Amino acid sequence: MAPNHETIFTMEATPVKFGRGASADAGWELRRLGVRRAMLVTDPGVAAAGDPEQIKRAIEAEGIQVALYTRSRVEPTIDSFQAAVDYALEHEADGFVSVGGGSSIDTAKVANLVCTHPAPVMDYVNPPVGEGRKPPSPLKPHLAIPTTSGTGSEATTVAVLDIPDLKLKTGISHRYLRPTQAIVDPDLTRSLAPEVTSSTGLDVVCHAAESFLSKPFDARERPESPDDRPPYQGSNPVADVWSAKALEFGGRYLRRAVADPEDLEARGFMMLAATMAGVGFGSAGVHIPHSCAYPIASVKHEYQPAGYPDDHPFVPHGHSVIVTAPAAFRFTYDAAPERHAHVASLLAGSPIADPGPDTLPSVIRQLMQDVGAPRGVAELGYREDDIPDLVSGALKQQRLLAVAPKPVTEDDLRRIITASMMNW
Ligand SMILES: [Fe+2]
Repeated sequence: MAPNHETIFTMEATPVKFGRGASADAGWELRRLGVRRAMLVTDPGVAAAGDPEQIKRAIEAEGIQVALYTRSRVEPTIDSFQAAVDYALEHEADGFVSVGGGSSIDTAKVANLVCTHPAPVMDYVNPPVGEGRKPPSPLKPHLAIPTTSGTGSEATTVAVLDIPDLKLKTGISHRYLRPTQAIVDPDLTRSLAPEVTSSTGLDVVCHAAESFLSKPFDARERPESPDDRPPYQGSNPVADVWSAKALEFGGRYLRRAVADPEDLEARGFMMLAATMAGVGFGSAGVHIPHSCAYPIASVKHEYQPAGYPDDHPFVPHGHSVIVTAPAAFRFTYDAAPERHAHVASLLAGSPIADPGPDTLPSVIRQLMQDVGAPRGVAELGYREDDIPDLVSGALKQQRLLAVAPKPVTEDDLRRIITASMMNW
């Protein structure tokens, strides 16, 4: 270990209220947080299902004004973030509630950031795309209420955005972006199509597996100042606990949740797994599959997924992530063979005899098949001659690749993506 290696890790987590019916407490939580004029951020699809209206009434019953914003975009952009910021400023919001998937939660994070510390949104975007500006003080209260069991955004410090002109996805990350409180209510996920449950559930599995297999925090260099300590710190004993439990739940409940939308027990555990994995990866970080997922979602916009609104083609996030996971974990195996075997056995639900380099990839492939995931990158609309664009897009995600358990070169990424064109 290098003499100037990191010796410190930080454990932070969003307080979570979990259980059926918990979203009825939204107003109580906001009042406790001192909010008087809340902006409720959601998207048109979730709004149409009626939950945001019900949550709005629960908040108003506590004497809190609510400005309902139903225009968050499924893949947020600078413009869609800016529109939410303008709305927050116009309504003088002193607190935020997000109801929806990761994009609504992320939109509320950015609206909160920019209306608290006004500046062009791009100034806050991670370098090299943006300036990586840091907010000087904590933001206003943000109550996050996820309705999909996947992103774990309610537990993390990151907001992801799409930049169509540059054909890339990037993000804003800072600890102040982490929501103040989360309410995770399994009753809110019942309307999801099996394809959505599959994609979001596989995202959970990848968050947990990538975090568990990330570079140990003490293998990083010690930063000059606490300010320079990254939000993604690498694996550590506390993040491991959350990631391991999320893997166990993912292995046990995802198949059931996809097979039967009415299986509330399985859905509840997948929501819990999503939040737990969010705590794990909000501390440790994700790396190769998520780095590859960014260009897979942004280089081409041709894939029209079943089970999602058909207003614009896109690759569902979880499916964009899982397709490179088998090859990525085959590549990282030699960095930590025992930890790879441990992830495989957690997902499989029992110890695996004589684990080797292909054990975890084959456990993941089996899970993908069982929940109807796409076979690989090719099925998402890409051909061999797109591989260079995908590789260069993945290579741009250095913030993520920095916590991979071993160095990742351009050639490594090319081999991983090529092997992921068809997983079976
Ligand atoms: Fe993800």
